[in-house]
Amino acid sequence: GDPRIQYISDSIRTIPDFPHKGIMFRDVTTLLLDHKAFKDTIDIFVERYRDQKVDVIVGIEARGFIFGPPIALAIGAKFVPMRKPRKLPGPVIREEYSLEYGTDCIEMHVGAIEKNERVVIVDDLIATGGTLGAAIKLLDKVEAEIVECACLVELVDLKGREKLSGKPLYILVEYE
Ligand code: PRP
Ligand code: HPA
Repeated sequence: GDPRIQYISDSIRTIPDFPHKGIMFRDVTTLLLDHKAFKDTIDIFVERYRDQKVDVIVGIEARGFIFGPPIALAIGAKFVPMRKPRKLPGPVIREEYSLEYGTDCIEMHVGAIEKNERVVIVDDLIATGGTLGAAIKLLDKVEAEIVECACLVELVDLKGREKLSGKPLYILVEYE
């Protein structure tokens, strides 16, 4: 395997009982404090996507806004934010998804992505897959071509992959 992966994994902190008792929270802010870990993370994604004719990196609020833009700049793609409701000022399309209790939704500006543009969706982590699943549905509405979803971390026991409508998911580190 890639020797950079262990170093990246070691730089992610685990905080028990956040935000609720029983949750082991995987905290990527410690990775950002380590130049090598942050640089290697971006480099791995850039190496993977630079020759894939990617037009757009979509970043999911909030931590997709940390990792998406440096990848977009390095591969010459544009960056499009997908945001929590009522944050984007222009006309939006929106997709709801279910949480443990209730629903949430994400929005994207109309016209940000054109039909058949090739997109990679970036976030820090996939848990239940609700967020990435909603992002995929929004991109399907605008008839984008989804190349892959890319996350640093997968919480594999939550089976979020099954919510991705068969789209590929690339991850660096997995936890139970
Ligand atoms: C976290 C994480 C992903 C999402 C994954 O964001 O950064 O975006 O949850 O969970 P899922 O696979 O179960 O949908 P969070 O909702 O905490 O929002 P924030 O980044 O704005 O704090
Ligand atoms: N870390 C960061 N975001 C998350 C987590 C986590 O462990 N679980 C759900 N969203």
